[in-house]
Amino acid sequence: MLSRKSALSASSGIWMKSLGHLVVLASLCCLISGYSERDRVHDLMSKYPLIDGHNDLALQLRIRHNNRLSQVDLHNVSKVATDITRLQAGHVQAQMFAVYVMCGAQEKDAVRLTLEQIDVIRRMCTEYQDFELVTSAQELRNSEMRHKIACLISIEGGHSIDSSLPALRMFYQLGVRSMALTHSCNTPWAESSSKLYNVYQRQNNSLTHFGKAVVEEMNRLGMIVDLSHTSWDTAWAALKHSKAPVIFSHSSSFSICSHGRNVPDWLLLDLKKKHGLIMVNLHNNFISCSDDANISRVADHFDHIKKVIGAESIGIGGDFEGAVSFPQGLEDVSKYPALIQELLQRNWTESELADVLRKNFLRVFEEVERVRDRMTLSRPSEVQISFEEVQNPCRLVLRRPVPRGPSHQSPFSRAPHEPKGLPILAIVLLLSSLLMIE
Ligand SMILES: *[C@@H]1O[C@H](CO)[C@@H](O)[C@H](O)[C@H]1NC(C)=O
Ligand SMILES: *[C@@H]1O[C@H](CO)[C@@H](O)[C@H](O)[C@H]1NC(C)=O
Ligand SMILES: *[C@@H]1O[C@H](CO)[C@@H](O)[C@H](O)[C@H]1NC(C)=O
Ligand SMILES: [Zn+2]
Repeated sequence: MLSRKSALSASSGIWMKSLGHLVVLASLCCLISGYSERDRVHDLMSKYPLIDGHNDLALQLRIRHNNRLSQVDLHNVSKVATDITRLQAGHVQAQMFAVYVMCGAQEKDAVRLTLEQIDVIRRMCTEYQDFELVTSAQELRNSEMRHKIACLISIEGGHSIDSSLPALRMFYQLGVRSMALTHSCNTPWAESSSKLYNVYQRQNNSLTHFGKAVVEEMNRLGMIVDLSHTSWDTAWAALKHSKAPVIFSHSSSFSICSHGRNVPDWLLLDLKKKHGLIMVNLHNNFISCSDDANISRVADHFDHIKKVIGAESIGIGGDFEGAVSFPQGLEDVSKYPALIQELLQRNWTESELADVLRKNFLRVFEEVERVRDRMTLSRPSEVQISFEEVQNPCRLVLRRPVPRGPSHQSPFSRAPHEPKGLPILAIVLLLSSLLMIE
């Protein structure tokens, strides 16, 4: 039997011990809960890996390596924010890779440059086992089961088609499944949000007759209409005209940061009516309207857009490689889990986040495909832009020779300072040889 004294000291010993245990337990709990929060994000993102709307890696390959893919190992690329290792760490399962051609190429060699950017993305996504080029929602789903990173090709800027629906169709044949109607320059048929380039200024800012034909042809082909970079008037007109849902592949909320590249609430409401999608851009200038931003500010955009149009209308379009500054904690493609963790802490449900991560995009892509399937009886559009709208020295108009005699010479058969027809022939040849590889 223990004496009273020894019993007391024993119990105080036990008490001290339990206190010690408690402290250990408490810190363990912290550790565990810290881990479990991250685990929860990783579990969620493993189940619903991200489909990201916009990445400019191909532009960096052009700038840094002149598209010589052999000079880089895409598993580990220095000085950029995107490589295979970090895409995998960030649970990025699908990436829309932008085919971006500088606006300065409009009326010049935009079509050639576009082909070259498509080529480098196709090479990247076929020469690396971790990537897989996909062209349909079903292929995208399959690629996830094969643990591949799916590549989708999207053209960033309507100047890439040089106002030609046949060129648009050929880009579709090469695997392009989305196109932004403009980049920073107006096209002859659509207006940009930027006033950087003083080209094709017009009184009426909505889509022209030919612009509407572009949207219709994209609907018929099953190409997603992307409204990032267009003016709000053009976005509104395209939204109204499109038979299929449209997206903003990399734009944020104008209410949170009043930048012209962001989307105002009234336009978000139209987007929702069309069952479309806004994929939030992470670039500091669009997040905080300054060079500095943090994850909390990014989450404010998500909260606001959810309040206005619901989580079913939101996705993520990081814009890595297309911009220079990104929020602290979101510096590269491996950091997406930090954003999802912030949204979980703000009481976003797992089901809402599954929508944002991938289900919304898949829904939109499948709806775009359904609209295409409903239009199978429509013939390829033969709408042509009028010569007056695209009059420029580089444009050669091929016509049947007219009978001799100056009075019969058609004024529209040739552009004013006609260059050789070789560039166009070369493009036609290049396109047809590419198609034969296909
Ligand atoms: C990536 O390459 C750099 C050198 O360029 C090297 O220091 C680094 O360890 C590599 N990282 C991985 C994950 O291989
Ligand atoms: C521009 O066109 C739209 C639709 O065609 C029309 O509703 C609008 O009034 C026009 N705006 C101007 C300034 O002409
Ligand atoms: C994030 O940035 C905003 C300004 O954009 C600032 O008000 C806020 O305090 C910052 N939050 C954190 C956690 O640093
Ligand atoms: Zn962009």
